[in-house]
Amino acid sequence: MKEFDLEELSAFNGQNGQPCYIAYKDRVIDVSESRLWRAGSHMKRHLAGRDLTLDIKAAPHGVEVLDKYPQVGILKSKPKEQTLPGALEVLMERFPFLRRHPHPMVVHFPMVFSISPAFFYLLYLITDVKSFEATALHCLGANILFIVPATATGFLTWWINYQAKPMKAVRIKIYASFILMTIVVISFLWRILFLENLVVSSMEGILYFLLLLSLIPIVSVIGWYGGSLTFPVEEK
Ligand code: HEM
Ligand code: HEM
Repeated sequence: MKEFDLEELSAFNGQNGQPCYIAYKDRVIDVSESRLWRAGSHMKRHLAGRDLTLDIKAAPHGVEVLDKYPQVGILKSKPKEQTLPGALEVLMERFPFLRRHPHPMVVHFPMVFSISPAFFYLLYLITDVKSFEATALHCLGANILFIVPATATGFLTWWINYQAKPMKAVRIKIYASFILMTIVVISFLWRILFLENLVVSSMEGILYFLLLLSLIPIVSVIGWYGGSLTFPVEEK
């Protein structure tokens, strides 16, 4: 049976009349006849010509679906390249979830706490209920707490999974994360140290509200570029 390496397999991507091959463990399977793999794409998510051993774990079906189609080759196992320091590599082997999960796990917190200060402040402006203003401030404080691990795990996943390769999306995320952190810390300190008696209609009150509002587009940009790395946006 023909042997394929990943490079050779990538040519059989089901596009431009090419056959549609996918690899699971050491099996190379020809799914060209499947209407669910038309044009080399499955569920608008998985692309043919690749090793999908890990991806199928997240599928709503088991690996038995692969038996419907013929095996046409064997995938040569790739030489394992070690890119991380030994101890870290051992840790990742022992706890594989540490490789990919920590960043997506923690990022939801700064996302929520970047949006909620402006939201609660707006509620305060509308209702004049003072505790909404306090909630806005508390969310701002909680944000400081969560931006730190979100940024740290961002650097970690970039290093571990992308070998810290320069990428436009990551560059934008790094700049935007530090801008976000700066605005959050400044507005928090300003509010607790100098805006003891906040007057919403004063110059300071308006500027403070604008700072809270500015967190929303900044965190959206960071999240959007993050999502574009995990789920590449389809071209039309
Ligand atoms: C997590 C994303 C995935 C989703 C949502 C998904 C969904 C589906 C659904 C709904 C079907 C048809 C129902 C069935 O036969 O059970 C199917 C069939 C199939 N899937 Fe997936 N799948 C995913 C990932 C994968 C991966 C990674 C592979 C390859 C390693 C794969 C290979 C297949 C094959 C070969 C079939 C049979 C196609 C046919 O009957 O013509 N799927 N998938
Ligand atoms: C407040 C700061 C940050 C937030 C809110 C954030 C948010 C996100 C989100 C929502 C995702 C998509 C996660 C998913 O659903 O799978 C993501 C992915 C990602 N982010 Fe961040 N991010 C932040 C900081 C950073 C920083 C500073 C870096 C780089 C130095 C970074 C690098 C990445 C990378 C490489 C991915 C892709 C993850 C993967 O493929 O495993 N992030 N981020």
